[in-house]
Amino acid sequence: MSSVFSPVVHGEVMLSLDNVFDPEELRAWCERTARLAGVASESLAYVVEPKIDGLALAITYDDGELVRAATRGDGRVGEDVTDNVRTITNVPRTLAGVTGRLEVRGEVFLSHADFAALNERQRALAQKEFANPRNAAAGSLRQKDPSVTASRSLSFLAYQLAPLATTLSCTTHLDTLDQLASWGFLTAPEALRVVGESGVLSRSEWFETHRHDFDYDIDGVVIKVDDLALRETLGATSRAPRWAIARKLPPEERTTRLLKIEVSIGRTGRATPFAVLEPVVVAGSTVALATLHNQDQVALKDVRPGDLVIVRKAGDVIPEVVGAVREPGRRRAKAWHFPSTCPECGAALERRGDESDTYCVNPACPAQRLAQIVHFASRSALDIEGLGEQRVAQLLALGLIDDVADLFFLRVDDLIELEGFGALSANALVTAIAAAKEAPLSRVLVGLGIRHVGPVAARELTKRFVTYDALEAAPLEALEAIEGIGPVIAGSLYAYLREDETAARLVRLRAAGLTLREPVTDAPVSQTLAGRAVVVTGAVEGFSRDEAEAAVHARGGTSPGSVSKKTYCVVVGEAPGAAKVTRAQELGIPRIPASEFVTLLESGSWTATLA
Ligand code: IVH
Repeated sequence: MSSVFSPVVHGEVMLSLDNVFDPEELRAWCERTARLAGVASESLAYVVEPKIDGLALAITYDDGELVRAATRGDGRVGEDVTDNVRTITNVPRTLAGVTGRLEVRGEVFLSHADFAALNERQRALAQKEFANPRNAAAGSLRQKDPSVTASRSLSFLAYQLAPLATTLSCTTHLDTLDQLASWGFLTAPEALRVVGESGVLSRSEWFETHRHDFDYDIDGVVIKVDDLALRETLGATSRAPRWAIARKLPPEERTTRLLKIEVSIGRTGRATPFAVLEPVVVAGSTVALATLHNQDQVALKDVRPGDLVIVRKAGDVIPEVVGAVREPGRRRAKAWHFPSTCPECGAALERRGDESDTYCVNPACPAQRLAQIVHFASRSALDIEGLGEQRVAQLLALGLIDDVADLFFLRVDDLIELEGFGALSANALVTAIAAAKEAPLSRVLVGLGIRHVGPVAARELTKRFVTYDALEAAPLEALEAIEGIGPVIAGSLYAYLREDETAARLVRLRAAGLTLREPVTDAPVSQTLAGRAVVVTGAVEGFSRDEAEAAVHARGGTSPGSVSKKTYCVVVGEAPGAAKVTRAQELGIPRIPASEFVTLLESGSWTATLA
């Protein structure tokens, strides 16, 4: 997916904000700022306002006419999203009485109510739900078709005015907010002018107490020097202004009752314990299930059914159970033990060697089948629109499919009468599946879920062996000889290609008309990450560590082992390094989920970051 949006070089760099994490750091920042400004600390005026968890946007007006809107991008170059922003109803198209050019900056977001309504629609359409309002807003803003953006009820909140070639009479930040409001922009009504560090501290505490009373997600408080002339004096570093600071609110933790512990089976057979909770709203969305990672983690946390537990979504969109709250005098249930058999098929659950994970040993396990087919249809593989987990489960339960190959034999007539389907959706699904027959061989290989064969390896393999037949006929040594393919990947693929089940599946995929061929292109890999440092931490599905680094390098980037001010972004995989994640948080470096890695490689950008 290369970006469909043209790059926009910002007239004035869109800076980020430095962060503080507790009241002491905030106090120290106030003192330092007053000293640098040459003002007594107790008399310096600030405005304290909410830090909205959305996406920064710069909107340019020429002689009062909206002419362009751009995302922040890397601060220097963003993406032109003008057509989409024109559909946001609370963005004024014209500003009365303005001459020359000016730029309004602020945040695009989805209110809680609009987020809930959007996810309800997604559910009704059997489409994937959004994890949180921020990701939903990002996805909605970056739509190719503005009418889709228009249907998403985005809002914009303005907090900054950059007169690039015009003069305005604002002398304070509060004046600016008043000016913006008089043009019809939404500004934060809670933005309040306070004096001195005591004012700053008590107002930020107010925000902390009321963080859930907002109609949108806030992930902190922004404190800004009110006097615009003083801001000029204070200036900025290359990354952030010295006149403002973000006080990050601690990751939200909630307590709720743990109803039971269950085990889910993934496509490789991995058994993951998870907590079934009394539903609780954490950081803007309702959480009823939370991961417990693995057997050792459950034992370590010693959480038991009936316990009051702490739940959070720290640094990630995936909710997790932190631990149990002690309730003196309450009788606890017996310690929970990892089951020895698969809850889905009854086969044995086994731990391999010294791995911390446990696996269901039955390759025909229905839960594995479900996860395999969902993976086959997913974005990273054949990208079959409209074939999410719910639908795959429905088709499996009805016996309409049992294997990925069966998908290609589904007919409109099989689907049209099913619950949740109509003529339109049945046709759409069959068409989407038919389109996948032409998918490049590398995507088919990814979809088959062959151990160790991720997108990068699959592309390397199919560059050398363009058809399935050629790949199947290749001797082990020829596979190992391919650049980037070591004995582990080669061995795994070689064995997979020779399994009976694979042969049977291939007969059917061929009969269905899959081309099983890689389109040959001589185009060099586009340099989407030229000069950018991308730190990868934790496991990224489909990539070994070396593959992930090689993929970044192939696109002109570097992949240093630690996070610094110069880091472009941090890709956070499973079981990430805590130090890297914390450092990125401290420096305000974007942290992006591993599911965005392929998008990052292809476009140099991302559509979602971690909260
Ligand atoms: S002022 C130069 N004010 O936070 C100052 N930013 O972590 C630039 N944000 O990129 C930003 N609410 O997207 C400012 N009230 C607010 C904000 C805010 C959210 C975002 C903004 C910025 C990011 C920095």
